[in-house]
Amino acid sequence: MVWRGHVTTFLTIFLFHFVEESSMQSRYIDRWEKVSIRYGYWYELPPYQSTAFKEGYRRINDVCKTALHNGFLFEKDGNTKTMPIYDFNGNLAGIQSSIPGNMKGFNSLNQSIDLPPLEIMPPLLKGTRDHKGMIYYIITAYFKHPKLICSPIATADVSPGKGLYIQTGFDLENDFLRIPLESKFLSSMWKKGPCLPLMGVHYFMNLDYDLPCEKLYPVFLTYDIEGKLGAFGWVFQGRPHNFYSNDGLGHWFHLTPITYPFIFDTSMLPSCMMNSKFQVFGIHVFLRDHKEMVCTKNVDKSHQTLRPSEMTPITQIPSQRTIINADYISNSNTINDHSDNGSSFHMTLGQWTYIVCLVYLCLCSLLLKRMP
Ligand SMILES: *[C@@H]1O[C@H](CO)[C@@H](O)[C@H](O)[C@H]1NC(C)=O
Repeated sequence: MVWRGHVTTFLTIFLFHFVEESSMQSRYIDRWEKVSIRYGYWYELPPYQSTAFKEGYRRINDVCKTALHNGFLFEKDGNTKTMPIYDFNGNLAGIQSSIPGNMKGFNSLNQSIDLPPLEIMPPLLKGTRDHKGMIYYIITAYFKHPKLICSPIATADVSPGKGLYIQTGFDLENDFLRIPLESKFLSSMWKKGPCLPLMGVHYFMNLDYDLPCEKLYPVFLTYDIEGKLGAFGWVFQGRPHNFYSNDGLGHWFHLTPITYPFIFDTSMLPSCMMNSKFQVFGIHVFLRDHKEMVCTKNVDKSHQTLRPSEMTPITQIPSQRTIINADYISNSNTINDHSDNGSSFHMTLGQWTYIVCLVYLCLCSLLLKRMP
């Protein structure tokens, strides 16, 4: 009957508006859409505490504020490279990495020194000892204001919304470095490095020819070609004994003078870094889709700059969670931008509700038709 069609149409329109409205409201979220790590392959950090539990993480602290950090720290299979932090709502709100304190490296005079050097503390901070008594150093980033990790109450000095904050001490009321979301607000201490396709324009703190190697700052930032923050990373001198962790989740990037162009513009580097035994390791943490981190505007993917294979431990960019063979990676010398193979297709709760309601309506009209 005609009226049934009208009712269905009306309900559909009503539901559609309802769903649109609710998803508009949920669009203001104080967290990054997707935080992914690139180490060997792509790995997306569990967006919620509940997903972390499902993926086999364990929670390290049960009280939100600890002496070392704010938020609930999670760990999996001894992976100290990327330990997610969740806020009191269970949303991903930060990341902590820890490195062992038993490495050797070099100072500006090419003399051997113990790592990590005091000069990079903070943001590196003394952490805890493992069961063998080895001290670990921690570095922590938050994706929203550190004061809002354990409490919903924003005071006037606290800006809500997503961001990037590097912890610089144990008093999180004051000890953090706020990273601007746009590169034009960066202080002049941040030196512009190279733009690398699918990584963005790199910025390094105080990095120039005169920088003593012991002061190599462990945080770098990357912005897209329009100047919007897209990723950050850690870079430390040395090579840790736990370079590969038990969970099989890839490894740190590792660079020597030959492979520096992976992240550095070598003309900026101090001579002590050219010491052939000098090495660095680190990770990239993407706050956005890496495919947006291109180096030319309106990029035509077939014309993207190719990097020589020796510069890049990872030249093929797989979609998230795709495990790729390490030998294969090092032999490949082109960037294959694997576009979505459906993995990024994700429906919101509102869209699910909408579909469920539509199915329900269809069933109803079918039943009505069958009624005598
Ligand atoms: C340290 O080693 C590098 C590379 O071998 C060299 O260029 C530099 O001059 C050395 N610096 C000092 C202070 O000896």
